[in-house]
Amino acid sequence: MNVTMAIKRFNPETDKEPHVREYSVEVKPTDRVLDALMDITQNQDGTLGYRRSCAHGVCGSDAMRINGKEKLACKTLFQDLLESESDGATVEIEPLRHLPVQKDLMVDQGRFFEKFRSVKPYFVPRAEVPERGEYLQSPEERALFDEATKCINCAACYSACPILDKNPEFLGPQAIVAAARFVYDSRDAGLAPRLDALDTENGVWPCESHFECTRVCPRDIKITKLINLTKREIKKYREQRGEKTAEPKKG
Ligand code: SF4
Ligand code: FES
Repeated sequence: MNVTMAIKRFNPETDKEPHVREYSVEVKPTDRVLDALMDITQNQDGTLGYRRSCAHGVCGSDAMRINGKEKLACKTLFQDLLESESDGATVEIEPLRHLPVQKDLMVDQGRFFEKFRSVKPYFVPRAEVPERGEYLQSPEERALFDEATKCINCAACYSACPILDKNPEFLGPQAIVAAARFVYDSRDAGLAPRLDALDTENGVWPCESHFECTRVCPRDIKITKLINLTKREIKKYREQRGEKTAEPKKG
């Protein structure tokens, strides 16, 4: 079947404004959006910019907005996007939001990864070496942070978040998921500095539970739930120490 790929193009070095360019592509219902993008760059227009690497939903590099929703191009089939298999459908493709466009569908992920790094997304070992040199953990303890290990840093949630529309300084859903991965790890000794990074005016507190991040996550991570659990953990931690959280007063 023939589809029109309406792609938002922008090269900050040469264009004043973004513009939409349409490409006609022959696809099968089981083709992925990434197949059509590769067809365009190989056969019609080699100047189209987009990222991709694994092509199998693992690396997170080809997240973009497809018909207004954040998705991985390599995991999105035309049969799941289009109502019928007849010719003439249009598929709209745009870059992710909340990050500056480098070229066409490629965004500058610098600020996204800066926020990710700010929550110390790595294991901090305890000072004392455990017996037999192993950090033991029960299956139940492991299950507590299993959900958060699935993140592939694709930034779909960052683009979908309505809080970042009004507050670009908000830490964003992905960084909180990355922090939760370690907050709930019984072996980790980095809780205090990690919670300090989260418990700030623009840390976890701006989240209003709109669930947009959860709706678009290609790994089906229950992001909003993890954010709310992290808020609860911060409150418990501060209460135990007789301290106040940085949560702004409501009203
Ligand atoms: S939480 Fe989900 S949507 Fe957000 S970066 Fe990770 S995989 Fe992507
Ligand atoms: S190209 Fe790696 S997730 Fe799509």
